[in-house]
Amino acid sequence: MPDLTDRVAIVTGGAQGIGKAIAEDLAGRGAQVMVGDIDSRRTETVDAISAEGGTASAREMDVTDRDAVDATVEEAVETFGRVDILVNNAGIFPPASLSAMTEESWERVLGVNLTGMWNCTSAVLPEMQEQSYGRIVNIASIAGGRIGWGPDLSHYAASKGGMVGFTRSAAIGLAPHGITINAILPGMIDTGAPEEVSSEEEIEAAVQMTPMGRMGDPKEIAFVVAMVCAQKAGFITGASIVVDGGYTLV
Ligand code: NAI
Repeated sequence: MPDLTDRVAIVTGGAQGIGKAIAEDLAGRGAQVMVGDIDSRRTETVDAISAEGGTASAREMDVTDRDAVDATVEEAVETFGRVDILVNNAGIFPPASLSAMTEESWERVLGVNLTGMWNCTSAVLPEMQEQSYGRIVNIASIAGGRIGWGPDLSHYAASKGGMVGFTRSAAIGLAPHGITINAILPGMIDTGAPEEVSSEEEIEAAVQMTPMGRMGDPKEIAFVVAMVCAQKAGFITGASIVVDGGYTLV
């Protein structure tokens, strides 16, 4: 099992869902975790980690606000001494049909999911380059990376496809600095979020089409994050790792 003792991780969108599971998993493996989220429940993640004997801190951070991102990275370095791991997990998925799509909705989804990833990545790079070590993990999606995902998520699919393209290109430039960057492409994960964009019937149909016959658990995404964050995972970079119970195979 990957041991992340004394590693320092920043997890965006760690107040709930997949991000919370990732923060808890990394802390459980010995990492010191900074949770950045706009949702005040970020402190509940810290409390859960502390209750298990782990080390974590939280800060209000909107990934679209570059000053807030820089301040979070600074605080992580001041508090924990370095930054080894960045998990770009914060994401939004407000459905909008193409005909009803407003410029505001398009900009917001691309802003949080794609530009937010860029803001956080570019903010940690000086620290990672200085220490010649880093692990960046982008939580993308099978939407955009492998399939569409319904007609009302084209902005979401564009943002997630953009994350995959960025990951592949950036991997080449970051390799000489000892930094890996990988994308994880989850299928339907049981966080409550799928219910916000799909009807009960659509979810049931997707489950039926999934060879594993169920939604994924957030902890199953967290496990893959930990795997690519391990020191021994230094040869895995630019990868798009699909974690979807086989959904995109059929
Ligand atoms: P969620 O809605 O449960 O959690 C998202 C978290 O991101 C929340 O804590 C929210 O406050 C935070 N967040 C939103 N906007 C933010 C911003 N501007 N700055 C900082 N934090 C912000 O979502 P879930 O299901 O946990 O998804 C997490 C990631 O996984 C997202 O990027 C999503 O696109 C991706 N994903 C989720 C899938 C699923 O089925 N749940 C499937 C494929 C990908």
